Amino acid sequence: MTILWINPEHVNGQTGPSYQRIAKAYIEQIRTCTLTHHNQLPPQRQLADRLSVTVGTVSRAYKQLEDQGYVYGHVGRGTFVRQQQPDSGFQIQQHIAENRSDLSLGIAPLTEQHFLLSQTLKQMSQQPKFLASLMGYYSEQGMPHQREIIASWLKQFNLMTSAEQLLLTNGGQHGVNIVIASICKPGDTVLCEQLSYPGFIASARQHRLQLLGVQLDEKGIIPDHFEALCQKYQPRAIYLNPTLHNPTTNTTPAERRQQIVDIANKYNIWIIEDDVQGLLQQPRPPALYNYAPERVFYIGSFSKLLAGGLRSGWIISPQSTLPLLARSLRANCWLTPPITHEIACRWLQDGSANQLINLQLSTLAQRHKMAANILSSFNPITHPQSYHIWLPLPPIWQAQELHNALAQEHIDITPSASFAVGNAPIPQAVRISISHIKEGNQLIQALQKIAELLNSIPPEPEDW
Ligand SMILES: Cc1ncc(COP(=O)(O)O)c(C=O)c1O
Repeated sequence: MTILWINPEHVNGQTGPSYQRIAKAYIEQIRTCTLTHHNQLPPQRQLADRLSVTVGTVSRAYKQLEDQGYVYGHVGRGTFVRQQQPDSGFQIQQHIAENRSDLSLGIAPLTEQHFLLSQTLKQMSQQPKFLASLMGYYSEQGMPHQREIIASWLKQFNLMTSAEQLLLTNGGQHGVNIVIASICKPGDTVLCEQLSYPGFIASARQHRLQLLGVQLDEKGIIPDHFEALCQKYQPRAIYLNPTLHNPTTNTTPAERRQQIVDIANKYNIWIIEDDVQGLLQQPRPPALYNYAPERVFYIGSFSKLLAGGLRSGWIISPQSTLPLLARSLRANCWLTPPITHEIACRWLQDGSANQLINLQLSTLAQRHKMAANILSSFNPITHPQSYHIWLPLPPIWQAQELHNALAQEHIDITPSASFAVGNAPIPQAVRISISHIKEGNQLIQALQKIAELLNSIPPEPEDW
């Protein structure tokens, strides 16, 4: 068992009162995985001596760490680091055992897709000339006729753009990476929601960005905090998920969107709008892109609407940055495979896309009904067209504890720490994704288990 000391310089580099600085320094170490499961924090008196603070200060810091789920105390033995889940929420288990219920991933329910695919492939196989055309190299933005089809399909969502402003990507995650690679350099400060999509957090880490979280309420980021961070840190960009936010499922209303865009204009900050989940919500407020097309990178994808395996998505870029994005895409992969975009485009044109979207909206509606019956007494936060339920926990439960206890029951969910940015307090909540699981009955059983656990006392940490 290693005792984990923290050095005074690290503590002094943090902001806030002393106890918060100590807690923040430990959180940074725990989040970067320098500290691991069951490592012990020093006895409070010894750490107080080393940092020249009172025992009361250390005690408050440990209490804060415990409240936020980073450590647990054991009477008579000390304070221990709780197991963290690096990159959880952004990992796919290859083989999900039959008896496992995966409520951790927001993946489109797979229903009719393979039938439609087989029809489309049959059709295409009878067009050898056209197939030959798909085998060439094209401009990195993607084949013009495919961009035309996608641009005109987007009009029904009030997204007025042209084929010239579209770049076709291998899905939303690829879009996020291409935009970041185009407009940011290592060390740049980038803002995002204080709870954010784990794929974005992973990408920002890889690009060595300095991520700062903007505080949230039920309408999205809080404009005053956004502005304060702009003044203090001069960020390069803000990444936002304003419609069916992942993980809280909230949608930012139109007036708040206008405030956000006004602040971005005032401080000259790029906006990266990730709408990969958002197109399922109808009606919905105008995209941020509509408020400031010269400042917003709009990222979309067919993964949630049609099928994730297509790996087909797009970026709508401001006119001025098109050459930058084209260069990044070229450097990254030359161009994305025309054949998968072709499948998506044919589905947009022959009505299969609408059929799939309607099918999954009705699946989601049924599942939300099931979930509401089982979880309503815990006040879940959700939206009928979201893949997710955001569940703030009763005070006796911590998110990581619930995650661990459910894992033992072969149920996977995502704890709040997976979405956390910076070292602000993490709410004790979990994200439950209801889209991916195959059988309604399996979902009911998993949700009942969650409710049963929440109505009971958490197990002792040592049990896991
Ligand atoms: C907000 C958000 N952006 C992007 C993605 C990734 O999309 P894709 O599967 O198209 O790469 C996801 C997937 O869950 C997501 O939730």
